Amino acid sequence: MKSFISGLPKVELHLHLEGTLEPELMFILAERNNVTLPYSSIESLKAAYQFHDLQAFLDLYYQGALVLQTEQDFYDLTYAYLERCKEQHIIHTEVFFDPQIHTQTGTPFDVVAEGITRALKDGEANLGISSGLIMCFQRDLSEEDAIETLKQSIAYKDDIVAVGLDSSELGNPPEKFERVFAMARNAGLKTVAHAGEEGSADYIWGAIEALHVDRIDHGVRCTDEPKLVQYLIEHQIPLTVCPLSNVQLNVFGEMTQHNIVELLKQGVLVTINSDDPAYFGGYLNDNYLTVAEAFGLTKQEVARFSENAIMASFLSVERKQRLQ
Ligand code: ADE
Ligand code: ZN
Repeated sequence: MKSFISGLPKVELHLHLEGTLEPELMFILAERNNVTLPYSSIESLKAAYQFHDLQAFLDLYYQGALVLQTEQDFYDLTYAYLERCKEQHIIHTEVFFDPQIHTQTGTPFDVVAEGITRALKDGEANLGISSGLIMCFQRDLSEEDAIETLKQSIAYKDDIVAVGLDSSELGNPPEKFERVFAMARNAGLKTVAHAGEEGSADYIWGAIEALHVDRIDHGVRCTDEPKLVQYLIEHQIPLTVCPLSNVQLNVFGEMTQHNIVELLKQGVLVTINSDDPAYFGGYLNDNYLTVAEAFGLTKQEVARFSENAIMASFLSVERKQRLQ
């Protein structure tokens, strides 16, 4: 199974670039930019990666991201992830970035966007990995802030395929961002949103009805409401599920309790993704393998996840047909 998964051409749809910041690179960038980390060694940093919930993770994730300051830092981060993609046989990836983490602490939007887009172009030219860039709004910040961020992104209209919504879910429902998502759709962007990770099924309904999203990120709480599961099946709204992340953040106690295989068997368009692999202990192949082993999946069932990801991607119809 391990070699079958390694050799399977895969598409990743839920990956935060800042969540690929490995401890080793974090220390290199901290030194490069004279940032003092509250850890004396890579080992003590890794030892801190024990999260009882989403907020505990986000606190470390935002702190770690502060070592990213120059265009070259964003380039190095992004290119290192694309090299991992090559190793993992990921042929296409749609990646999130969180510009507000950086603009809030004084790094200009252009520095972030230039470094990432340059690396994505080099990754396509040198490694043959195609990509889409998704700009996330932080849902714990204001609507006004999101609108300002959308305005800053207009110069990168040709490089950004979609907007998304992430960060602390509870208390920050999708409806808060109804207007900025409408503005993004009017500007021709696709839309996705994290919903139903820690939040209830209502957050998934909100992402569908108020934000009109093309995909739901996570969405695993949909099983609390059978009517919602039926709706996802009927409309084939994709869920970008992140199994290792869900177990690390206690969304599920252990992998055998995860609902991804139940959803697959019911006909929901579910996909497997790695979310923040540097923090959750595994890249895409590890996520596939952990699910396959926990549920004793056949190769055919495993391949369905990768077929679903091609279908759920923002690739052109022609490219999807060629890949299937
Ligand atoms: N930002 C990075 N990873 C996230 C996750 N799993 N949920 C919400 N926001 C995030
Ligand atoms: Zn995520």
